[in-house]
Amino acid sequence: MLLSLSPQTGALSIFLSAVGVEDAGMKDMESLCLQFDRTGQPLEVLKLVSRPLLPLGPHEVRVRMRYAPVNPADLNFIEGTYGRPAHPPAVPGHEGSGEVEEVGPAVESLEKGDLVVPIEGNSCWAQHLTAAEHHFAKLPRRLDRVQASMLRINPLTAWRILKGFVDLEKGDVIAQNAANSGVGRALIQIAKKEGIHTINFVRRPELIDELKALGADSVFLDNDEGLASAKSLLKKVPLRLAANAVSGDSAVRLMDMLSPEGTLVTYGAMSRQSLKVPNKFLIFKNLQLRGLWITKWVEKAGSAELYEALHPLAEMMRNGELAMAVDEIVPLKEFSKAITRAQESGRSGKVILDLAVN
Ligand SMILES: NC(=O)c1ccc[n+]([C@@H]2O[C@H](COP(=O)([O-])OP(=O)(O)OC[C@H]3O[C@@H](n4cnc5c(N)ncnc54)[C@H](OP(=O)(O)O)[C@@H]3O)[C@@H](O)[C@H]2O)c1
Repeated sequence: MLLSLSPQTGALSIFLSAVGVEDAGMKDMESLCLQFDRTGQPLEVLKLVSRPLLPLGPHEVRVRMRYAPVNPADLNFIEGTYGRPAHPPAVPGHEGSGEVEEVGPAVESLEKGDLVVPIEGNSCWAQHLTAAEHHFAKLPRRLDRVQASMLRINPLTAWRILKGFVDLEKGDVIAQNAANSGVGRALIQIAKKEGIHTINFVRRPELIDELKALGADSVFLDNDEGLASAKSLLKKVPLRLAANAVSGDSAVRLMDMLSPEGTLVTYGAMSRQSLKVPNKFLIFKNLQLRGLWITKWVEKAGSAELYEALHPLAEMMRNGELAMAVDEIVPLKEFSKAITRAQESGRSGKVILDLAVN
């Protein structure tokens, strides 16, 4: 399989090689990837396939992918329920990290050995990714590869929540649910660095101390009691921004806490319930209901704007100020184990596919 830049759309897209592995006589140049030929339950439709590597175009680089997390969006994409339709046969994986293995003769910005993450991040569950050089963001070489594989989606989403909606200043407060999620944990750490206080909701009591140790100012259970405790902290402080990744009753509690004219940013729906909005919050508080899809933001952002966000986040990762939690690292060939674990609740972080292990 060759992953390449589509000249029509300018987007990373997948071109399945018509040359079979046996025909190619290039066994030493095969590469493994996960693929689905129809949308459905990931465990039922995903399979490991081997494809030959094809020669590079002049502006292309070939990246040896190292690690890729299993995110909820990846599972939704395989199921066919994601915001961007899958066109099977397709290789999933919205993000990952790898090293440049080979560059085309006209490539200027990257060289062999550079640590990169794919910017648009399609098809990362593969041992090799080939695309035009501008489709990869270069990161400091010393950055931990596992951490780097989780940089582009969740920390960037947390960054946009904090920067893209309300002009928050040092000492301001943000509230969020699903605070133990990848985005939630990133938001806690980034907000702390920016001097913004966080009020966090989780559904498991054992997470309260853990998230406080990570830098959360306050952590409550996501129920009416937790809401009452959180509201008592907000008697003298306005809450102008809240981040919602759960919806249903959990989002209603965030709306209840927000000050008049406050903004609720919905970026996920882990409860699989709709966002329900009591009329009073629109009529009496004029709450602003906004949405964020980082994929769209990345598509629209210029490379300067993207790097303006990625660089400080990568720097925080390098300094240990931003650490994404890892539950388990699983070899590519044991992908069923990785998918099963990623679908379980009570994980202690991301399940990561180790793409280097055959
Ligand atoms: N809009 C965007 O651009 C964007 C970007 C990134 C992520 N997202 C979305 O944000 C959400 C979180 O993603 P992630 O990668 O950060 O997640 P993650 O690390 O996989 O964590 C999932 C979180 O959801 C919680 N959760 C699971 N089922 C739940 C339920 N039924 N009710 C309440 N909470 C539940 C889990 O709680 P426990 O820890 O208790 O299991 C955990 O905190 C997902 O919906 C994802 O699709 C959106």
